[in-house]
Amino acid sequence: MKIFADTAIIKEIEEVSKWGIISGVTTNPSLIAKSGITLEEAIKKIVDLVDGPISAEVAEADAESMVKEAKVYAVMHKNIVIKIPMTIEGIKAVKILSRLGIKTNVTLVFTPSQALMAASAGATYVSPFLGRLDDLTKTDDAGFKLLKDIKELFVNYGFKTQIIAASIRHLEHVNQSIRAKADIATIPYNVLKKMVEHELTEKGLEIFREAAKK
Ligand code: G3P
Repeated sequence: MKIFADTAIIKEIEEVSKWGIISGVTTNPSLIAKSGITLEEAIKKIVDLVDGPISAEVAEADAESMVKEAKVYAVMHKNIVIKIPMTIEGIKAVKILSRLGIKTNVTLVFTPSQALMAASAGATYVSPFLGRLDDLTKTDDAGFKLLKDIKELFVNYGFKTQIIAASIRHLEHVNQSIRAKADIATIPYNVLKKMVEHELTEKGLEIFREAAKK
């Protein structure tokens, strides 16, 4: 499973890109607002830090305007992927963009039928939102079940669309993404940092360091 950074904060991307394990970046309007810079400014900086798919989300709501906006971002860099919301207009835009050879990431996916619609339109990626589905259902595995269902759907019917597990809030969501065989997990900075930690790793390291001194 590839690891993407789910952030538009340049300092965070600068740091995690140095770890050498980040294959792409996803942004959305909320993350851009948090970053304090515009989407265009973010794109320009991120493409220099990570050589992989960078998702930039359209703000427009109708298909024609989404395609127009998408073309502006797509020409900025070869790695730009256009993030399109899961609506009928969005699906129409994905179909047009896929014919133009522009990569798309259909976002806000909460059911297998939405994933089927996106894949049928030629989406490069779909983004099921684990955390938000768990919130809605007040469970800790609704997102996991959704991921498994979408994976089964894509495998059974031979869709090439890749699954980006999104809205990851904690380590168990990362584990669930691995178990469901998601192609990619897009992970916020705080969870990325936790992925290297374990209390026994720290304890073991202390013991080894003490031993090394002797
Ligand atoms: O990748 C989507 C993500 O940014 C949404 O996360 O925590 O706002 O549901 P969250």
